[in-house]
Amino acid sequence: MAKLTSSCVVGVQWGDEGKGKIVDILSQKADLVVRFQGGGNAGHTVVVNGEKHVLHLIPSGILHKSICVIANGVVVDLIQLLEEMEEIKRRGIKVDGRIFLSDRAHVVMPYHKFLDKHSEGASGTGKIGTTQRGIGPCYADKAARKGIRVADLYNEEFFKERVFAFTAEKNKILAALYGAEPLDAARIVDEYRGYAAKLKPFITDAVEMVNGAIDKGKKVLFEGAQGSLLDIDFGTYPFVTSSNSDACGISAGTGVPPKKIGKILGVAKAYCTRVGEGPFPTELNDALGEKLREIGGEYGATTGRPRRCGWFDGVTSRHAVQINGIEEVAITKLDVLSGLDEIKFGIAYQHNGTKTDRMPTDTKVLAQCRPVYKSFKGWKEDLSKVRRYEDLPKAAKIYLNFLEGYLKVKVTMISVGKDREKTILRR
Ligand code: IMP
Repeated sequence: MAKLTSSCVVGVQWGDEGKGKIVDILSQKADLVVRFQGGGNAGHTVVVNGEKHVLHLIPSGILHKSICVIANGVVVDLIQLLEEMEEIKRRGIKVDGRIFLSDRAHVVMPYHKFLDKHSEGASGTGKIGTTQRGIGPCYADKAARKGIRVADLYNEEFFKERVFAFTAEKNKILAALYGAEPLDAARIVDEYRGYAAKLKPFITDAVEMVNGAIDKGKKVLFEGAQGSLLDIDFGTYPFVTSSNSDACGISAGTGVPPKKIGKILGVAKAYCTRVGEGPFPTELNDALGEKLREIGGEYGATTGRPRRCGWFDGVTSRHAVQINGIEEVAITKLDVLSGLDEIKFGIAYQHNGTKTDRMPTDTKVLAQCRPVYKSFKGWKEDLSKVRRYEDLPKAAKIYLNFLEGYLKVKVTMISVGKDREKTILRR
């Protein structure tokens, strides 16, 4: 079989691992960068020459020369996409012929965003803390076969029929459950026709585009959003997002068969964070957690919410390594740990007097697990100028060596600052 030219970047934790920066570096050599799941809930921050770019829907490859594809598995808020394209153009980056949207992707409609907001507010069964971008309701409609696909926007009658039918249904739900004002279907149709016209040159059959590129030996990079622990099947359900946010999502989200997918690179922070609700066994609810938040700038790129911070959790990370088939890992924000006397790494959990190194499926059990830590000596040196692995402080190398052994992976990239160049490439 020919050498596989495609690869993938996925988060090992609950998102915000710094995938944007890693994808940005890898996309220097990628012909195509492809988003395969999630939507505007993602917030990929990339800093180039001191300028911060936050991308939500457009793949981070846009900052290089790569062609960027938003594939069928993504749920797309057309307003957000057009705004993001304008912002990219304003920064002098060309979008024509660089960004393509799958005609099979589902559209986030106004009622999805309303439902996301209202149902989060009303839910007594457990708030998830969503980004309120309409992601869950849009994926729910996709599965219920009540979704609107990009291709439908260009079939005038069919589009109108569906918008009228679905808006009428959603209005009843919004009024009965949340006392909300009804949405105007005719206005939605008009507005969305306008967006569709603007986006027409960017729409494509992405199945053909991405498969064709791989068949021609082009380098294709799949960019995962969120993280493996937010995956709808393998994450900390129900405190997850509504897509397969790990490598398992690539085939269904692009139409590229599994046998054409090459290396999977996992990205993990040197510690751990999470936004929104849900179990987080190694969370630090103390001054140290706050210190990590301040030094690491741990505030959501999409919602600005403060992120919960804690130690690296080996147990959940090993689960992520297993479901993705990760052999190589990029560790980000190692510099944030500088100056700590002690660094801890979660190696197991204690639950009801039993020790385990497997992540329990039952979310309530996971929430009751107490972490068992291995302790490491910290280091005082500033890492931001280190560019070679050998030049890292001995204590940092001991910590990374342990992580590699525990997860049975090779750490091939280490990020020591926000900028592109503040990165150690090990091979
Ligand atoms: P949703 O994806 O907006 O439905 O949110 C579901 C959960 O996933 C919430 O806990 C969010 O905070 C979390 N989430 C969604 N997208 C991201 C992301 O890009 N980074 C980190 N957490 C995210």
